Amino acid sequence: MKKSIKFILTGVLALAGMTARADEGMWLPSLISQRIVDMQEKGFKLSAEDIYSINQASLKDAVVLFGRGCTGELISPEGLLLTNHHCGYSQIQQHSSVEHDYLKDGFWAMSREEELPNKGLTVSFLERMDDVTEYVLKGYTPDMTEEQRVELVKKNSQALIEEATKEGNGLRATVEALYYGNQYFLFLYREYADVRLVGAPPSSIGKFGGDTDNWMWPRHTGDFSMFRIYADKDNNPAPYSKDNVPYKPKKYFHISTKGVQEGDFTFIYGFPGSTKEYIHSEGVRYIEEIGDPHKINLRTLRLDIMNKYQSQSQKVRIQYSSKNANVSNAWKKWQGEVKGIKKMKTVQTKQEFEKAFDRWAKGGEFDGVIGKLAALYAELEPYQFATDYYAETVRTVEVANVAMSVARLFLSGHEDGLVTFDQEKAKELLDAFYKDWYLPIDKESFVAVMNEYEKNVPADFKPSYYKEKLASYGSIEAWAEDMFTNSIFIDQAKAEALTAADKDAVMNDPAVEFFNEFLKWYATDIQPVTTRINRELDLAYRDYMRGQMVYCRTQRVPKAFYPDANLTLRVAYGHIKGYSPADGTYYLPSSTIKGIMEKDNPEIFDYNIPQRLRDIYAAKDYGRWADATGEVPVCFIATNHTTGGNSGSPVINADGDLIGLNFDRVWEGTMSDIVFDPEICRNIALDVRYVLFTIEKIGGASYLFDEMTFAE
Ligand code: ARG
Ligand code: ASP
Repeated sequence: MKKSIKFILTGVLALAGMTARADEGMWLPSLISQRIVDMQEKGFKLSAEDIYSINQASLKDAVVLFGRGCTGELISPEGLLLTNHHCGYSQIQQHSSVEHDYLKDGFWAMSREEELPNKGLTVSFLERMDDVTEYVLKGYTPDMTEEQRVELVKKNSQALIEEATKEGNGLRATVEALYYGNQYFLFLYREYADVRLVGAPPSSIGKFGGDTDNWMWPRHTGDFSMFRIYADKDNNPAPYSKDNVPYKPKKYFHISTKGVQEGDFTFIYGFPGSTKEYIHSEGVRYIEEIGDPHKINLRTLRLDIMNKYQSQSQKVRIQYSSKNANVSNAWKKWQGEVKGIKKMKTVQTKQEFEKAFDRWAKGGEFDGVIGKLAALYAELEPYQFATDYYAETVRTVEVANVAMSVARLFLSGHEDGLVTFDQEKAKELLDAFYKDWYLPIDKESFVAVMNEYEKNVPADFKPSYYKEKLASYGSIEAWAEDMFTNSIFIDQAKAEALTAADKDAVMNDPAVEFFNEFLKWYATDIQPVTTRINRELDLAYRDYMRGQMVYCRTQRVPKAFYPDANLTLRVAYGHIKGYSPADGTYYLPSSTIKGIMEKDNPEIFDYNIPQRLRDIYAAKDYGRWADATGEVPVCFIATNHTTGGNSGSPVINADGDLIGLNFDRVWEGTMSDIVFDPEICRNIALDVRYVLFTIEKIGGASYLFDEMTFAE
């Protein structure tokens, strides 16, 4: 056993050190010494210890996981934090109303007292990360089943987590698998829960171009917002209190306003969420031919409905702004991803690789793994399809979701038949729900997606509840009519007046029944099968992952190996570079305020900029923020390998100073979660000079500069 772990580790580590293809890869900061020479050859001037150290303050101490899916960075010794506008979007929205529309007008705290607290928002600093493979697999023997191994990993991980967090103080630990469980790391975080909104530009800057420009280059979005972390008087995490004081970071970024040039070294430090770089061709084929196209279609229907009602009412526009952005974001990304996978011929390339691998593997440790993966994918496909459809239809019905959440608050189980109901919790859920709910959108969406469900999901993969109900209603439309007329939950006053005595009424409510019956069906007919197949896939992938490493090393196939993203801290490095999206076209790597004016159009919501910006442009009142061409720089692109979760990540130059804020990728390169093309894949960043320009000239909040440090 000992020996096999040793082998795995030496193998993995040695291979991770291999030369990567240009700029591909998301590297573990604690192992960055394996990449540092390459980084330095490409221009980086600092050391591995400057990036990650557990003995001294390093750049990692200035980077946080923001909320549950973004990155942020510290830019002052007083806890000032920079992230994207779209990362702070739901907070900005929560503080907005028709009277104080911070989404529309922007928000700037003019003093610490005006900073706005945000319930539920946390930021996490990584204290340290350690390879714990040996501990996690302690007690493992090769005769164990995958189930037993999963149990063992869970138990050992739990023990490690308890040990690591026993001193309390906001410490949070997770154990994460890398390379499909060939390696395990413990991540120890310090989590702060008092994070206040300091400022945000109006959406006409922070979301300029809206969903029309989302995932696109050239781009002109000022996608930033600012927060401040608060701590107790000992600088430790504490829940919100007016007595808390600004957090004093171990490290914060100095800001470089020197500007960027094509070819300059850049590095991104952040929390990429999820990639699948090593999957079998069948996994890719499903995404390209089945999963993505169906999901795209369902979301097109929902978006059309939302857009229609949002354009008719300012209230509805605010209510659905955040929901719309979420639905639209993946919808558009999937479209780019499908195109990219096709263009790269990824399925075909992978098939060829698999064929060669399979030949090589005959008679050895990895014999048969390719066939095994293909067979498992074939078995999984109909179940995956049913799961995808369920997620994008039934589970998107808003009123059914909230109805189910309230239904869960009834507790029986006492012998005397007593029922309790957490009325306070229900009120909280319902208040939040009705603030942003518009019945006609929900009802029309129900009709649209459930009709697709009826049309596209095979009968064997539909619950009998559904089939019977549909037969009795006669149509999806009639079903919608019943649910959206007779459910308790379409009426806020009725829903908020529910008591423990109403349990039966709630359980028989058409919205609750709808959600619950599907849930039960999914839990009994689908999930057990997908769980089993996915476990077998995990096992096969663990071998295949190792196999790919050994194969590429011994057969001299040049390939970079880095662990797939899993929302843990990573380093990606590259350089500023344009690209050619199509024949005859070349995109420059940076954009300026001139492009904003070219897009400006008061008639189009996404392109209607603040009058103030037009005036500034007319007067060329740029202050110190113009570049050598006399314009204010806005965005730039680079070859850094990033993904969802990297939004808000600091873009750092060769000296370790902040030059920008990552927020997106180019549409033609969105297949980078599956296959990275160095010619096309680009991350999109906001130039820090546009951030500063906006704070000063639009926000009138240049007092914030006093606490920042500007690099020479
Ligand atoms: N595409 C970027 C990312 O994936 C920005 C998203 C902002 N949302 C939007 N719908 N415009 O997060
Ligand atoms: N916009 C993404 C995010 O929110 C970043 C990306 O997918 O490139 O993390």
